[in-house]
Amino acid sequence: MIKIAPSILSADFSRLGEEVEMLDRAGADMIHIDVMDGHYVPNLTIGPLVVKSIRKYTDLPFDVHLMMDNPMEYLDDFIAAGADSITVHAEVLHHLQGCLAAIRKKGVRAAVALNPSTPLNVLDYVLDDLDMVLLMTVNPGFGGQAFIPQMLNKIRDLRKTADGIGKQLDIQVDGGINPDNVKAVVEAGANVIVSGSSIFGSSDPAMAIRHMRACP
Ligand code: DX5
Ligand code: ZN
Repeated sequence: MIKIAPSILSADFSRLGEEVEMLDRAGADMIHIDVMDGHYVPNLTIGPLVVKSIRKYTDLPFDVHLMMDNPMEYLDDFIAAGADSITVHAEVLHHLQGCLAAIRKKGVRAAVALNPSTPLNVLDYVLDDLDMVLLMTVNPGFGGQAFIPQMLNKIRDLRKTADGIGKQLDIQVDGGINPDNVKAVVEAGANVIVSGSSIFGSSDPAMAIRHMRACP
């Protein structure tokens, strides 16, 4: 089952509540929220106050992607603001297993994001501690970048590993996904699709979501 997670990074921030309502009506499976701290990535985006302020516009799960140097310090704030799942980057964590365990203990889903150049083997001993892996298909920081095609092999390798141990792992892809390449990432083994610019840039976001979910 393919799930579509539109990223509000490409939304009109002056009317974020309405944009979230629009995604809900358009059939999104969750709302992907890109948190950027200006250190881990050059961009600055959304904090817990904004997450809290849009929480009332939808009952869809909030999928919060923390592109931060110090995610541990903000877990409680984002969970209190309404996050249903928290994704942390493996590259910044000295104690990845501990962070994932802490997220789950707080009652939300735990996910790990890997940048394009980060090897899959950092997941070797934490697959039981996580609910989803986010494979970045661009270098994080900005919407609207081009998909890195070498990531197809990485998706395939991770799906093979998960299948090999009988784990029904959610594999999320994030960055440069559009109606033209969604089929390739799904065939490689991804099942949760983040998309910002191609959904918000479409004249009919509901059709774009349906189209990507069907990935013809
Ligand atoms: C990139 C973000 C993505 C981004 C996706 O750092 O994590 O979620 O907004 O946007 P598109 O679909 O435009 O690449
Ligand atoms: Zn993201």
